[in-house]
Amino acid sequence: MSFKENFLWGGAIAANQVEGAWDVDGKGLSVADVASYKPKVDVKDYSAHHTITTAIIEKAKSDKTTEYYPKRRGIDFYHRYEEDIELFAEMGFRTLRLSIAWTRLFPTGEEEKPNQLGIDYYKKVFEQLKKYKIEPIVTLSHYEMPLELSDKYNGWVDRKLVELFVKFSEVCFKEFGEYVKYWLTFNEVDSVGRHPFTTAGIVEDKCEGYSYEEAIYQALHHQYVAAAIATKKCHELIPGSQMGCMLTKLTTYPNTCNPEDVLLSLNSNLDNHSHADIQVLGEYPPLYKKYLEIKGIELKKEPNDDKLLKENTADYLAFSYYMSRTESADTSKERAAGNTVMGVKNPYLPSTDWGWQIDPIGLKISLLELYDRYRVPLIIVENGMGAKDELTEDKKVHDDYRISYLKQHIQQMKEAVELGVDLFGYTSWAPIDLVSASTSQISKRYGYIYVDQDDLGNGTQERYKKDSFYWYKKVIETNGEELG
Ligand code: BG6
Repeated sequence: MSFKENFLWGGAIAANQVEGAWDVDGKGLSVADVASYKPKVDVKDYSAHHTITTAIIEKAKSDKTTEYYPKRRGIDFYHRYEEDIELFAEMGFRTLRLSIAWTRLFPTGEEEKPNQLGIDYYKKVFEQLKKYKIEPIVTLSHYEMPLELSDKYNGWVDRKLVELFVKFSEVCFKEFGEYVKYWLTFNEVDSVGRHPFTTAGIVEDKCEGYSYEEAIYQALHHQYVAAAIATKKCHELIPGSQMGCMLTKLTTYPNTCNPEDVLLSLNSNLDNHSHADIQVLGEYPPLYKKYLEIKGIELKKEPNDDKLLKENTADYLAFSYYMSRTESADTSKERAAGNTVMGVKNPYLPSTDWGWQIDPIGLKISLLELYDRYRVPLIIVENGMGAKDELTEDKKVHDDYRISYLKQHIQQMKEAVELGVDLFGYTSWAPIDLVSASTSQISKRYGYIYVDQDDLGNGTQERYKKDSFYWYKKVIETNGEELG
């Protein structure tokens, strides 16, 4: 058998993309609640989709409807979690990766005491998972920090956020520690650089006395420190707990063997890995420090910060993998989309409906590379394909393209495990259709379970099993031996 006997098969979701109920039971506004629907995604310009200004935020705050803010309604997991978890159990899930919305516990982020209704809700969710012996993996921060902290402090630029996040984390450890062994601090921490508002609450027009770029690196530093302190607290408060860090694995190839292309791709990979280096190896890589120096960016650090990073490294490395990309010195080459990044089109690879290039071997390469570099247990906490699905009249979805994508990726994963990579789980993104992080579309469907809802919120919200539902059930049943 290739995969460990207790391999964690399952799926991954995030509170802001599924729960809805944005103003229910005392929940405060999060950065996700002001993310608007972007129907016409121009894959040639991602930055346009991630630029947010104070004016955009104010407009969103004054609009109390959900129509153009789909994350406010999600797929109503808040009220339908029992049924959804039952469906995950039917597929045989051994784990579910989910996040806790910070704003359900601390609506503005600064309350003295947590909101009891928020705590009660997550306890019910964890009870339901326990009923089906589904091990939760909990992300503490998945693109859903309190909006108030962005408004007041320009997000993670301010050191105050470290204290507030640690307070939130401690409440989670104390309240949910009896249910949760596996934790993750920040979803794709490296994404602060790609979408500073979504990941760290930074608004460019609020950067006064410092540049946007300085804000990004300072916020990253604060998140690393907060992650280190949270790791320490987690170990103290929950015996046997495991705290991971998470990386968007953006595997980059040289577009040709031109040394200039090779150098560009090396730089991209070094940049990507630096975020895991800091959290797994516990120190800033020398090249990262030099880069900051060249850019004239001086991080504001407290005397104990480096020690904290060194002494509280992650127990495991979690990562998402959707696609690979290439770099080329030739700027005239056709570009291709990816997960909030662009690259140069790889002529050897097909693409999804959203233009992300499908590269199963890239997953094997990523696993080998990460295991060789870090030598800690790995888990793939996101992998999947956003596609346009069609619900037939008899309520079926024949998603052979999704099965093919997942099958090929699991096959590569298997080969990496056979070569000695210590991989302990796989949670595909996402087990059920949900609202897209980047475009707020639900028509970009990822699930094994179809949700009858369109981008504007029309539909019954009924759940239907796609063909991939039965396929994944079989994969889990056979511990990855039968891929179909
Ligand atoms: C990951 C995020 O990077 O990509 C998820 O952690 C997100 O939140 C996923 O949903 C897929 O991206 P998108 O934009 O298609 O939803």
